[in-house]
Amino acid sequence: MRSARRLAPGFLSLLCALALFGCTPRESTPPEQPATIVVGFSQLGSESGWRLGNTRSIIDAAQNAGVELMFENAEQKQENQIKAIRSFIAYQVDVIAFPPIVMDGWDTVLKEARDANIPVLLTDRMIHTEDSSLYAGFIGSDFKEEGRSAGEFLLARTAGYDSVRIAEIRGTVDSAPALQRSEGFYEVIDGNPKFTIVESVSGDFMRTKGKECMEQILADHRAIDVVYSHNDSMTYGAIEAIEEAGLRPGVDILIITVDGEQMAIDLLREGKINCVVECTPMIGDMIMELAIKLAAGESIDKYTYSVETVFTEYDALDGLPDRGY
Ligand code: AHR
Repeated sequence: MRSARRLAPGFLSLLCALALFGCTPRESTPPEQPATIVVGFSQLGSESGWRLGNTRSIIDAAQNAGVELMFENAEQKQENQIKAIRSFIAYQVDVIAFPPIVMDGWDTVLKEARDANIPVLLTDRMIHTEDSSLYAGFIGSDFKEEGRSAGEFLLARTAGYDSVRIAEIRGTVDSAPALQRSEGFYEVIDGNPKFTIVESVSGDFMRTKGKECMEQILADHRAIDVVYSHNDSMTYGAIEAIEEAGLRPGVDILIITVDGEQMAIDLLREGKINCVVECTPMIGDMIMELAIKLAAGESIDKYTYSVETVFTEYDALDGLPDRGY
């Protein structure tokens, strides 16, 4: 723990004065306080309900764990995340944690953190790097498995179809969830000639862009059987576009989405979504647990994955507790 460097200047002068005059503090010595851990967290933005839930989970968890959180919002820009990480290094926080907005371009700043002996915890999204020692660990979802779950639902749901025309609305270009959710999905459907990916476009995980993508897809190809959307926010936009085009989401076009926000579960109940693959943002407690271990110099598992489920139109969802995001 690095808390000594954050001692108040007044307290430092008192220590110096005691040393100069040869005094040894006895009864007056205050009982030793456990040092507060400082975690620098660079959130990537506020693009979705999922992200807002994730931010809330992290802030609440830090408060409950007595961790001092330096929180920065990068507003969807990698350069802002890099700037925030550099400011955490300058401040000499105990641990740096962040969900990398994209997979590439992190080695330089992570080497700077390593040179400063500050452990880095990747949260939610992974990076591409040749040097896995640049981060101490990862905590988040298995996006490839989420993609496989989406593919497996589609396979079973379209068992009686001769041909299935799919529109994929992907997340942010070069982000781990966009790349891995596609990878897992294609792994399941590839090689089966009845499936055609008619369009695969990026909606950047945002509702407005999801709507724009869907409008364009419907303008270019009327005959779409399925929308596979990489997150709920884009799905809400796509549903709006489908309804405005006079079609019925969930009936004329099957809808598969990822995240599991409360609103997506409500739309599943209404029959406008057919399958929701869960991706939980509620990882704040785990982040704090791992950060506290890293600050104490303990080692952690390199990869910690959230346990997640799939909700479908066939499930009884009545007793499902509120999702909290
Ligand atoms: O990285 C997780 C993804 O990012 C969530 O699926 C999405 O909603 C968010 O924007």
